[in-house]
Amino acid sequence: MGADTGDSSYARDPAAEFKAALRGVASTVVIVTANDAERHHGMTATAFMSLSMQPPSLVVAINQSTLLHDILVSAKYFCVNILNDDQEPISNIFSDPKTVSDRFLHGAWSYNEHGVGFLTDAQASIFCMKAGAIPFGTHSLFIGMVEGVQTEGTVSPLLYHNTSYCMSLPRSARS
Ligand SMILES: Cc1cc2nc3c(=O)[nH]c(=O)nc-3n(C[C@H](O)[C@H](O)[C@H](O)COP(=O)(O)O)c2cc1C
Repeated sequence: MGADTGDSSYARDPAAEFKAALRGVASTVVIVTANDAERHHGMTATAFMSLSMQPPSLVVAINQSTLLHDILVSAKYFCVNILNDDQEPISNIFSDPKTVSDRFLHGAWSYNEHGVGFLTDAQASIFCMKAGAIPFGTHSLFIGMVEGVQTEGTVSPLLYHNTSYCMSLPRSARS
């Protein structure tokens, strides 16, 4: 079955059509936290993925225009907090530019030995040592070597899909 090559099916506006295609991708919502000498900060992200098991590592893609990016450039450590499906309010707070100075007043935050904030009732908090940063386009990929994980025991992540928050449901649970 060969593809029809007579009429190009490539997008004429690849950025817009890529964005539209991404609306069909369900992503887990996380809050990435980090600190430098003066500041600690956190922001909502979905551009997160596991990278390798040997060594255990992950990647987050952070917009260079964000305050978190500024901090991550000099940070030695960061944490990826995977949100539970009832933590939509905290996701909203950590993505709102108007809440930058008081984000950590919301939620049950604690701090590890490096001073990095973690959400004690997140589904999981993954503690990383920053192993690399790769700028590309408007974003940078920050690679984290996983040093420890704290899990809450539940497996029901907050998802973002088609511009809405949602939750996962096994097909077997559907009526
Ligand atoms: C559901 C959701 C997912 C997001 N994912 C990302 C992401 O993966 N990377 C990113 O740079 N910004 C992402 N953002 C946007 C940031 O959370 C937002 O720009 C935030 O205000 C940046 O905070 P800061 O400038 O205080 O660091 C996301 C926002 C929402 C609501």
